[in-house]
Amino acid sequence: MKLLILNASPKKKGGASRFFSSLFRLFLPGIQSQVHPLRNRQDFGPARSLLPSVDAVCLVFPLYVDALPSHVVEFLSLAETDCRARPHALHFYALANNGFVEGRQNACALHILEAWCQHSGAVWGGGVGIGGGTMLRVLGIVYPILIAVVLLQMVLSLFSTGTIPSDLVGSLAVQIGTWLFLNCGVLLYLFQLSLAVRKQKTMGNRFTRVMIPSVLFVPVADLFMLLSSLFHGRFLFTLLRQDHWPDH
Ligand SMILES: Cc1cc2nc3c(=O)[nH]c(=O)nc-3n(C[C@H](O)[C@H](O)[C@H](O)COP(=O)(O)O)c2cc1C
Repeated sequence: MKLLILNASPKKKGGASRFFSSLFRLFLPGIQSQVHPLRNRQDFGPARSLLPSVDAVCLVFPLYVDALPSHVVEFLSLAETDCRARPHALHFYALANNGFVEGRQNACALHILEAWCQHSGAVWGGGVGIGGGTMLRVLGIVYPILIAVVLLQMVLSLFSTGTIPSDLVGSLAVQIGTWLFLNCGVLLYLFQLSLAVRKQKTMGNRFTRVMIPSVLFVPVADLFMLLSSLFHGRFLFTLLRQDHWPDH
């Protein structure tokens, strides 16, 4: 069983789709899987050349304006010929993520993929729509750091006092438990998707999200966007670059 995971985010580094591709692979032991980028037209040739040799494809993509990114649409229209030329139907799965909190926003994009499968002779295996994808990606960086800090404190305590304080053990359990809780919907549906891929079955579409209340999501997301703009220097650029102000 060979699975091709196409990471269709245009981002070169990082990105939520990359995070979910890696997370999904953890659920696929025993399956020959590889992640291939589908960032732009340059990736079309290599990705298409892999299509005849795989049993299934999982397209991992960011939601753009409630639909598929335009380069993905272009790729799919070219890949239609490859699908039709196959002796056996290609099983097609998808993992969509979006910035807003509701995973159900990905429903339209998953329906577009299902229609493409019907048109090109591929078998639609179903998809997972994940809301708050960017936040889950950021939490996927923050929590390993927090956990590593607690583990380091434990090691230092073990060397200096010979014991590990129970509050550190509690703190470790809280950090791991919180990450698991925030991701529980994603982990459950990735597991279901992996079973569907393994058995080459159709599972229908599932929708989930980052497990924080929507009322908290908005201020946290706003704060994140503010920090992110600061990080990319946009605020400083606007404030400090005098030549961008109109001449007096
Ligand atoms: C051009 C563009 C359009 C987007 N449209 C939507 C949208 O309609 N709904 C939504 O929830 N998020 C939207 N987003 C946010 C992305 O889906 C979200 O940030 C996603 O996590 C990015 O995934 P990536 O890091 O894998 O590229 C849009 C982002 C961009 C750049």
